[in-house]
Amino acid sequence: MESKSKISFEKIAEEIDNLIDSFKEEDESVKERIKKLIELIEEFNRIGIKKIVKLLKEHPEGKTILMTLVKEPEVYALFLKHGIIKPNVKTQIAMVLEKVRPYVKSHGGDIEFVDLQGDTVIVKMYGSCVGCSQIETTLREGILEIIKQKFPQINNIRVIPVRVKNKNGKEKRIIPLDTLKEGEVFNYKDEDIDIILIQYNGGIYAYYNACPHQGLSLKNGDLSGEVLTCPWHGFKYLVTSGECLTVNYLQLEPVEIFVKDNWIWARV
Ligand code: FES
Repeated sequence: MESKSKISFEKIAEEIDNLIDSFKEEDESVKERIKKLIELIEEFNRIGIKKIVKLLKEHPEGKTILMTLVKEPEVYALFLKHGIIKPNVKTQIAMVLEKVRPYVKSHGGDIEFVDLQGDTVIVKMYGSCVGCSQIETTLREGILEIIKQKFPQINNIRVIPVRVKNKNGKEKRIIPLDTLKEGEVFNYKDEDIDIILIQYNGGIYAYYNACPHQGLSLKNGDLSGEVLTCPWHGFKYLVTSGECLTVNYLQLEPVEIFVKDNWIWARV
């Protein structure tokens, strides 16, 4: 139930983004009226939400209820949008990335905040930026500089490249579930994809078969526990996350997989 409401919340946010995008083609007077309409609806909501929060704060149990409410992602986003709570560092970094998205999109790509781990920001990059090491490096370094202006304590950015937004991907039947053996690197290749699958500790992990160092095949890599070593120059990767242990800004590119009818499928 919880995940269903999360999906619908994200879907609504995506539809709002798409609708706002679609209005870009309209003439200025229409755009102005739409903008005004959105502002008025938001102001209407903001007044109501602020009133609810004020009344809750005055109630003896209201603060506890508010603390519970704010843990819900939908409520957190709503409070954040209307200035009722201050954004935490992760949210502020995500907001900085939102500002650079139009630039990334103008290059045919997209960027998404994933996490902040220590002094490293992890992002996903989609579309044409992926596979073009020059654009990826330029964007990565450029984005890091922008983030550092506000958060000087951030020293690294790690990019998880994603070739396509998976929701539009093609589904491929890869291998019967019971054929995949723990401790081996399984390679599947056809005209559309070239991927590796690894079963580790009961979990199944899939990545594009291209070492981020020089793009060479990982299918003959050495698997030792959770660590996959590239056969070419020895770069090491964690199979559970794709994180490179040799160079901290590299990352294996994940492939979305799922199990259906006792087969492993990939969406590519
Ligand atoms: S291509 Fe994998 S380490 Fe160089």
